[in-house]
Amino acid sequence: RNLLDLDTFSKSDPGGWQSRAGSMFGRTEVIDNTLNPDFVRKFVLDYYFEEKQNLRDWGNPPWSHSAFFGAQDFLGQAFVALGEVIGSQRGQGPTLCLHHLDSPCPQDIVTMQLCANKLDKKDFFGKSDPFLVFYRSNEDGTFTICHKTEVVKNTLNPVWQPFTIPVRALCNGDYDRTVKIDVYDWDRDGSHDFIGEFATSYRELSRAQSQFTVYEVLNPRKKCKKKKYVNSGTVTLLSFSVESEFTFVDYIRGGTQLNFTVAIDFTASNGLPSQPTSLHYASPYQLSAYALALKAVGEIIQDYDSDKLFPAYGFGAKVPPDGKISHQFPLNNNVENPSCAGIEGVLESYLQSLRTVQLYGPTNFAPVINQVAGIAAQVTDGSQYHVLLIITDGVISDMLQTKEAIVTASSLPMSIIIVGVGPAEFEAMEELDGDEVRLSSRGRYAERDIVQFVPFRDYVDDSGNQVLSMARLAKDVLAEIPEQLLSYMKTRDIKPRRADPE
Ligand SMILES: *[C@@H]1O[C@H](CO)[C@@H](O)[C@H](O)[C@H]1NC(C)=O
Repeated sequence: RNLLDLDTFSKSDPGGWQSRAGSMFGRTEVIDNTLNPDFVRKFVLDYYFEEKQNLRDWGNPPWSHSAFFGAQDFLGQAFVALGEVIGSQRGQGPTLCLHHLDSPCPQDIVTMQLCANKLDKKDFFGKSDPFLVFYRSNEDGTFTICHKTEVVKNTLNPVWQPFTIPVRALCNGDYDRTVKIDVYDWDRDGSHDFIGEFATSYRELSRAQSQFTVYEVLNPRKKCKKKKYVNSGTVTLLSFSVESEFTFVDYIRGGTQLNFTVAIDFTASNGLPSQPTSLHYASPYQLSAYALALKAVGEIIQDYDSDKLFPAYGFGAKVPPDGKISHQFPLNNNVENPSCAGIEGVLESYLQSLRTVQLYGPTNFAPVINQVAGIAAQVTDGSQYHVLLIITDGVISDMLQTKEAIVTASSLPMSIIIVGVGPAEFEAMEELDGDEVRLSSRGRYAERDIVQFVPFRDYVDDSGNQVLSMARLAKDVLAEIPEQLLSYMKTRDIKPRRADPE
């Protein structure tokens, strides 16, 4: 919207580009003579919740002034993270509106049934032995076979068995992409005769849920040769249904918010923050392990939390004014409202707390877990899902209570991420993680696995490429969140709400 006018005698002719990780992956069409273009070309890209995926869009970039592209003027550029597009209720931005996002559902399975009428007779001694071949179209205009029906012998009016195919196989998640279907007459020797073809799309096929759809089967060669040629028969879509295994994106687009809470270990085993050996030590050049882990995970999650207000707690310290040990004190020192504005706000409050509290002990997780569980229990309709990030040096003191708290939390819309910093042995954390053995407490088993644990040291890169190693850390701790959210929705039979109408 409101692009700059660069053409002297008319309006600009904008064409956008999109890029990921520096390389171009697509180019929109050029729309003539407008400052408010609506591009329609679509781009299909893989989405990973646990990674930051940056997109860059621009008018024609400077290097397009080449013989290949012809002279084009640079209109400007915009940056956006894919997570922001998916997490925001609506695409927004003054110069670039992303206002159509088909969320492909890789787990969506289509079941359809087709029949044909009055197909051409191909066999000398009989009628035809028809079968269908489905092709998905690729980005470059080529076609890939994605399904073959069985052969129905000796008929011009075959009815094929219903069959199932993943939506992804049919159209790669692009509902408007051409799906080509060839009709063949089967021959024993493999030299199947082409009867004719027709084209459709997933979107068109899906309309058959409410009406019969009839396609004309055309043979282009016959059409050229015979003047009176009408068609080589018709194919009717008898039924079409989609089994939806909803995806994480479906829920996020449907308005589910991730509510992110942070809890930081302020126990004495971390070492005095003023000492370079301390896990809380931050030099002017380097963040502490705690701050790094918080930033790495927080910066990805914040795209899915629209108010960007993050409650942040500390545990295991003596807190002013009375110097009592607390296992759940607000980092911003505001008991009424422990929310900090953005990840930056959490970092600021964390540093502030380091200066005011006295690191002590023991290391109790249960109080913060129960705190977040109490909030998560208030909204269980799937519109809010809580992610608690606990950063700790790992010597846990209240294992029994923590197990009990996690088992209780496992029936609530929440997940727990534990990042262990420092050199400690983290066996207790592995047990909480429950990847191998489902966690239980006093004979009660956790309903779902909701804990993900990773040791920070596995991600400290000696070569000093912190950005890369933090991205890997985030990737590993966040990888299970979509699955955990889906398992909650599934056990509660919660369907995604419809995305905002466009
Ligand atoms: C969760 O996040 C949403 C959106 O950011 C916010 O409206 C809601 O109040 C939060 N819920 C809690 C319990 O903090």
